[in-house]
Amino acid sequence: MKLKEYPIAKPFIGKREEEYVLEVLRSGILSIGKKIKEFEKLFTKHIGTKYACAVSSGTGGLHLAMIAADVKIGDEVITTPFSFIASANSILYVGAKPVFIDIDPLTYNIDPKKIEEKITKKTKAILVVHIFGQMADMKPIKAIAKKYKLKIIEDACESISASCNGQQAGTFGEAAVFAFYPNKQITTGEGGMIVTNKKKIYDLCASLRNQGRAKNMQWLDHKYLGYNYRLNEMSAAVGIAQLEKIDWMVAERCKIAKWYNKYLSLHSNLVQPPITAKGNKHSWFVYVIKLLPKNINRDKIINQLRLKKIYTKPYLPAIHLFDFYRKLYGYKKGDFLQTERAADRCLALPFYIGLKEKDVKYIVDQLLIIIKKYEK
Ligand SMILES: Cc1ncc(COP(=O)(O)O)c(C=O)c1O
Repeated sequence: MKLKEYPIAKPFIGKREEEYVLEVLRSGILSIGKKIKEFEKLFTKHIGTKYACAVSSGTGGLHLAMIAADVKIGDEVITTPFSFIASANSILYVGAKPVFIDIDPLTYNIDPKKIEEKITKKTKAILVVHIFGQMADMKPIKAIAKKYKLKIIEDACESISASCNGQQAGTFGEAAVFAFYPNKQITTGEGGMIVTNKKKIYDLCASLRNQGRAKNMQWLDHKYLGYNYRLNEMSAAVGIAQLEKIDWMVAERCKIAKWYNKYLSLHSNLVQPPITAKGNKHSWFVYVIKLLPKNINRDKIINQLRLKKIYTKPYLPAIHLFDFYRKLYGYKKGDFLQTERAADRCLALPFYIGLKEKDVKYIVDQLLIIIKKYEK
C-alpha cells in the first residue's frame, strides 16, 4: 500500500491567487505597481497600524527596522537565542550586538524576568520575537522598555494575527516585521512587511527598500545607502488574496492544533504539547512538541517517521551555539539552559491547512509507537 505523504508545511493557494497574479502578468507592470500599495493598505487594516511597507523578505524587513530604530555600531539589543537565526542576524547587520536572554520553558518566548540584569548603558532596544505563532509576554517587556527608555521592535514573522491580552502582534513598538515564506500562516512566496505608526519610520523604510531613493526624487537620485528589498507585484498579488481569507486560514490552523492537542494530551508522560499562555491568542505558525523521555534520540524518531512519509523537523536550533556566534562572542553549551533544552527536544510536526482529524490521529499514533520503541 502506498503511504500518504505528510510534509511539514504546505501553502494554501486558491483560485483568487491565480487570478490576481494573472492580472499582474497581463498588465505588464511587474514591479513598483498598484498591487504592492493595495497589499500594504489591506495589511494596515488587518494589523491596525498606520503604515505598512512591503519588502522582499522578513530578514530584509528586520534589517530595515533596525536601521529605522537607529540601532548602530556599538549598541546592544536584547533578544532571544531561541528563534530563527534571522532575528539575531539583523542586529549584527547594523554592527550592534545581540544580547541573549533565556526563554520561558513553557511558551519558548523570551523570559521577561531575565531581561533587566542584562541591560547596560549600551542597550538600545529589545527585539522581541513572537515564536511559533504565540506572542511574548508583552506587559512586563513594555514596562522594562519604558523604565530604561528602550525601543521595542517586534519580530512577528511567525505570528501574524496573534494577540496578547487583546492587542495584536505588530502594534507594540517602534516597528514590527512579518514574513511570508511558504510555510507561514500567509505567503507571498518570499516576502515580508514592516509595520509602524510612525511616518518617519515608514518613509525611511520605503526609501531604503528601494535603493535609498527619497519619495520625490528622480529615479537615479539616492538620499541614503539603500538596498533592493522590493517586493514584486506578483508576490503582492498573492499576498492580497491570502489576506482576504486570513481569518479563515488562522481558524483552520487553530482547529488542526486542537486535534493535535486532543490526541497528544493523553500522553503527557511522553510528549509536551504547545502551551498557550493566559491572555494569548495563538495563530499557529508551526505545531511544536517537546519530547519528554530522558534518553530519547530525536534524530532516530525523525528518521523513523520519515520512513512512514511523515516529515518532521527539529525546531529550532539555539542561535548562540551556531559556529559564528560561538566565535564572535565565545558562547558555549550551558549558557542558556532552557533554550538548549528546547533546541534538543523540540520537534515540529506536519502542520498545514488540509490536514483532517484522521490524519492528525494517524500522525500522533505513529509518533507514539516510535517514541515508545526508542524511549530507552
Ligand atoms: C522568527 C523569524 N524571524 C525572521 C524570519 C525571516 O523571514 P524570511 O525567511 O522571510 O527572511 C523568520 C522566517 O522564517 C522567522 O521565523
